[in-house]
Amino acid sequence: MKIIQLHFYLLMWSQATEGLLNITVTLGADLSGGLEGEEASLLAPEQVQFDTGEGSLSASEFASCIVDYLSAHTEPDTFILWSDGCGYQNRNAVLSNALLQFSMKKNKVVIQKYLEKGHTQMECDSVHSVIERRLRDQDVYLPAEYVNLMNKARVKPHPYEVKYIDHTFFQDFTKLRLCKSLRPGVRAGDPTVHDIRAIRYNNNGTMDFKINHSDDWHPHPSHQLRNSTSDSHTVTPLYSDRLKINELKFKHLQDLKEVIPKDFHSFYNNLLH
Ligand SMILES: *[C@@H]1O[C@H](CO)[C@@H](O)[C@H](O)[C@H]1NC(C)=O
Ligand SMILES: *[C@@H]1O[C@H](CO)[C@@H](O)[C@H](O)[C@H]1NC(C)=O
Ligand SMILES: *[C@@H]1O[C@H](CO)[C@@H](O)[C@H](O)[C@H]1NC(C)=O
Ligand SMILES: *[C@@H]1O[C@H](CO)[C@@H](O)[C@H](O)[C@H]1NC(C)=O
Repeated sequence: MKIIQLHFYLLMWSQATEGLLNITVTLGADLSGGLEGEEASLLAPEQVQFDTGEGSLSASEFASCIVDYLSAHTEPDTFILWSDGCGYQNRNAVLSNALLQFSMKKNKVVIQKYLEKGHTQMECDSVHSVIERRLRDQDVYLPAEYVNLMNKARVKPHPYEVKYIDHTFFQDFTKLRLCKSLRPGVRAGDPTVHDIRAIRYNNNGTMDFKINHSDDWHPHPSHQLRNSTSDSHTVTPLYSDRLKINELKFKHLQDLKEVIPKDFHSFYNNLLH
């Protein structure tokens, strides 16, 4: 069993936006209880930067990152994703559909666990500041230069894993309807999405949930699940082309060429706008 703390740190170059998804993945058997004590010391923050130069942070983008990561690690039969339950992207049907499809296709079990506030061992702030320190006082003109700097931002225990991607990386999971809703209850007074503490995605297409970490698994209501294998075709590329940057930003970048060495100008000339 291996516990890895992942910080998906997406840097959208041309939009100058960044997003952080805090998630811890356990590759292997389930652990009961929270992420505390001994276990916490096993955490090895890793960080993946996705530099698309385009896009905005949507549920499909986060789901694409997670599915990409899980797909690259074929050995474990079980994956456990720990996250703090507050981020909306951690509790939505788009991600759940992506995870359920992954379980079925790859014959894996995926468990999502939501930690209570105060129990999380997230170190994103420090990851962020390590990178910021590295970038300070550096002249960076191209996305690829960011990638180099982020690769060098940390040496111990190992460098951050940096992945330079483009718009083709992202899949649109919003049309996938293997699970119609995460809502575990039926009637008023039944548990709601916010009461869920854990979700299990089974390779046979069913889901289970817990509203208390110490409970047994309860089957997710079957009327919320759709029995369809033809659904695999409904996942399409999220972007058909590079995204354009807006006219004003394009103009500002052209103005900046005055202070940018000539070698780099063609990159700025060729930005779609
Ligand atoms: C990630 O964790 C940091 C530090 O705990 C927090 O400030 C940030 O809001 C979290 N981000 C998300 C997307 O949950
Ligand atoms: C699917 O798998 C789960 C977990 O192994 C099991 O509890 C459930 O009974 C199975 N359901 C069907 C319809 O096979
Ligand atoms: C969860 O289970 C524990 C132990 O059975 C119990 O003490 C606690 O009150 C339960 N929490 C909720 C929210 O039901
Ligand atoms: C899906 O349909 C197949 C055949 O129609 C059936 O054997 C299977 O149990 C169904 N699975 C679920 C999760 O309902």
